[in-house]
This record gives sequence, structure tokens and C-alpha cells, in this order.
Amino acid sequence: MKFTWFGQSTFIVEFGGKKLLFDPALSANPLAKDLNIEDLEADYILISHAHGDHVADLEKVVDRTKATLISNYEIVSYYGAKGYNGHPMNHGGKWTFDFGTVKYVNAVHSSLFPDGTNGGNPGGFVVWGEEGCFYFAGDTALTYDMKLIPLTCPKLDVALLPIGDNFTMGFEDATIASDFVECDKIIGCHFDSFPYIEIDHTKAKDAFSKKGKELILLGLGESITL
Ligand code: NI
Ligand code: MN
Repeated sequence: MKFTWFGQSTFIVEFGGKKLLFDPALSANPLAKDLNIEDLEADYILISHAHGDHVADLEKVVDRTKATLISNYEIVSYYGAKGYNGHPMNHGGKWTFDFGTVKYVNAVHSSLFPDGTNGGNPGGFVVWGEEGCFYFAGDTALTYDMKLIPLTCPKLDVALLPIGDNFTMGFEDATIASDFVECDKIIGCHFDSFPYIEIDHTKAKDAFSKKGKELILLGLGESITL
């Protein structure tokens, strides 16, 4: 499985022969101004919640790629009314797609569309298949619900966790989250895009290495194959 980061929470994960695009929102991120929306390829788009910094480029990308949306019922219904195809889920449910199995799991956050429409309750995704298993947490606080993931899903190979603080957990809480989900390899996201979420990279990496864990901070547009 190959992970490419486009800033904030936008990732393309190549998994099970498909391209899974998470939370496409380059145009909402001043740091990503040199990245090209045309580079966002997708067979599926997984949406954690309805905030602008997670959905800003979604319609443009679907218009070009015809990707299938995967999200909660409210978000899939919102885009369904605009003519976009999607697979609705809700918390605790899983479904096996042609690339692997997806479970929609809890996140402690909020989820309102930029136009004021209710975006349901925010979530994260655990995705697994023959290549392995990963957790995309979405925007969330540290929560005890994360302890359910190792009880209900295969062993995680990597967890994509927000670490920027203020709107989500910071890196200190994310180290505890990594314990709760029983994962020692973390890819950080949701940091540095705006002044409220700027972090000290060295301190963040040290916080994980003190626990014998690895925090991977990708550069914009950078990939890692695991
Ligand atoms: Ni958010
Ligand atoms: Mn966000």
C-alpha cells in the first residue's frame, strides 16, 4: 500500500489495485497552493466529515474522475442530491468493496457543510485487505472509542492521525491514541496548514520515539510505500 500526502488530511492511498482519495481539499490549504488538483486521482473518495478543509475540492475531482464516494449517510445523501454516486455508511458498520473492507468508526469532532447543511456525525475509516490494514482517523480528539479498533479490526500496520492540536488532538494526545489503536507506525496529518495548527516537528517526532514508535511526516506530494 502506497500513501501520498497532499497536505492537511488529503491523501491518496493505493490499495487493492484502486486509488482511494481521502478528504480532497487542496484549495482550502494555503500550504498546498503549488499542488495541482488535477493530480488528485481517485476510484473512490472517502470523506471523514463535512468541513471545508476536507471537502473543498471534492466536486471538481468527482466531475473529472467519476469516483464513488464513501462516507456517512448524510454526506453521501448531500452529494447524491447533486448527482454524485456514493456508498452510505454509519458508525460501526463495515462493507467489503472491490479493493478491501472499510469500517466507519467514531470520531469526536463536528461535521457541518460550509453552506450550513448538517453533515451527520464525523468519523474515521479502518481499511483492510490482503496488503494490510490502516486507520485514517479523520478530525478527532483522543477518545476511548479508539480502543475498540484493535478489538474489532485486523492488526493495524499504520495509523494516519491528526497531530496539529486546537481543532483536533495534538501530537501528545496522538501518542496515546497510537497506544489505544495498538499501532507503532504513524503518519501525521492536519498540521501546519494554518497558524492555529502549526507544530514543532522535532518535538512531535520525539514524543513518539520516546515510546519506541515512529512518526512519519511526509512532505507535500511525498509518498511512502509500506
Ligand atoms: Ni474538521
Ligand atoms: Mn479539519
